[in-house]
Amino acid sequence: MRVAVFSTKPYDSRFLSEANHEAGHELTFLEPRLTPDTASLAVGCDAVCAFVNDDLGAPVLERLATAGVRMVALRSAGYNHVDLGAARRLGLAVTRVPGYSPYAVAEHCAGLVLALNRRIHRAYNRVREHNFALNGLLGFDLHGRTVGVVGTGKIGVCFIRIMAGFGCRVLATDPYPAREAIEAGATYVPLETLLAESDVVTLHCPLTPETHHLIDESRIAMMREGVMLINTSRGALVDTAAVIRGLMSGRIGHLGLDVYEEEAALFFEDLSDQVLSDDLFTRLVSFPNVLITGHQAFFTEDALRNIAASTIGSLTAYGRDGSTAGIAPDALVH
Ligand code: NAI
Repeated sequence: MRVAVFSTKPYDSRFLSEANHEAGHELTFLEPRLTPDTASLAVGCDAVCAFVNDDLGAPVLERLATAGVRMVALRSAGYNHVDLGAARRLGLAVTRVPGYSPYAVAEHCAGLVLALNRRIHRAYNRVREHNFALNGLLGFDLHGRTVGVVGTGKIGVCFIRIMAGFGCRVLATDPYPAREAIEAGATYVPLETLLAESDVVTLHCPLTPETHHLIDESRIAMMREGVMLINTSRGALVDTAAVIRGLMSGRIGHLGLDVYEEEAALFFEDLSDQVLSDDLFTRLVSFPNVLITGHQAFFTEDALRNIAASTIGSLTAYGRDGSTAGIAPDALVH
């Protein structure tokens, strides 16, 4: 297959090239994000390989189909950014990487919880300035606290196991309860109960029309005073403006984000010499009790190796006649 790889970073080309060694696909690594303006770079290719902030709305898919592209291979688990109706109409196969490393995301999430609780991000800066005072660094024992996990798929279950290891009481909510979550010690409750009883609330459900702004003003009002809210899933699960109001009022005592509603304009690029025009984001980073990472939860060697292997596997399995029968069922989005 001739494949246009969009949003390529050095680590993408390294791991994809290694995985492609025997498969022998013709990979063209492109630095730009996939947008209506860059879609023409895929002319002459059979497939595009895209990441989380590439634009896969109907106009882009139409341009890709016109350019001769027949397949979209996502290097991500989430596929909320793809207009699946348009893909179906245009006969484009769409694949994703179903579970490349739930540990990578769950462990990063645990890192955010620990860093926020014990103010490690602040302590790091203090010690570098020879400020060894402890005022303002007071944390709490995680042991015995209640952690609420929204979404108990692969990542949620990993995170439950980690928190159970800390001796936390774990509450969970999911329209499809998982045996593994219960075996790991979680108790399923309705979302409202989870929000009312949890000291830490963490989101691990996908972004869908139903979960858009799942955490809004009214849900924040249901949470415990001083709650820790963590989102490593997708930015638009939370209403950022409402969360800022929650931080201002003290209802939200700690906020850990690896994803942000408007991250497409920011994340994965070095913008350190630019003035950011995103008021909500600059506001968020100004809070001492907010810790933001730029969509790096997936970013481990193990995950990148698995992403590359799964992506190349899907490209190889796609039949010359357009058949998707050989593609792993959980990798095939439609
Ligand atoms: P998964 O598909 O294994 O699990 C998602 C779970 O959420 C399912 O059990 C589903 O039933 C549940 N769910 C759906 N709607 C819900 C709702 N309204 N309330 C509660 N639960 C609901 O997905 P996985 O692999 O665990 O990933 C979860 C999410 O993490 C992905 O959708 C993706 O957005 C995000 N992600 C973020 C990464 C990062 O680097 N920050 C990397 C990989 C995934």
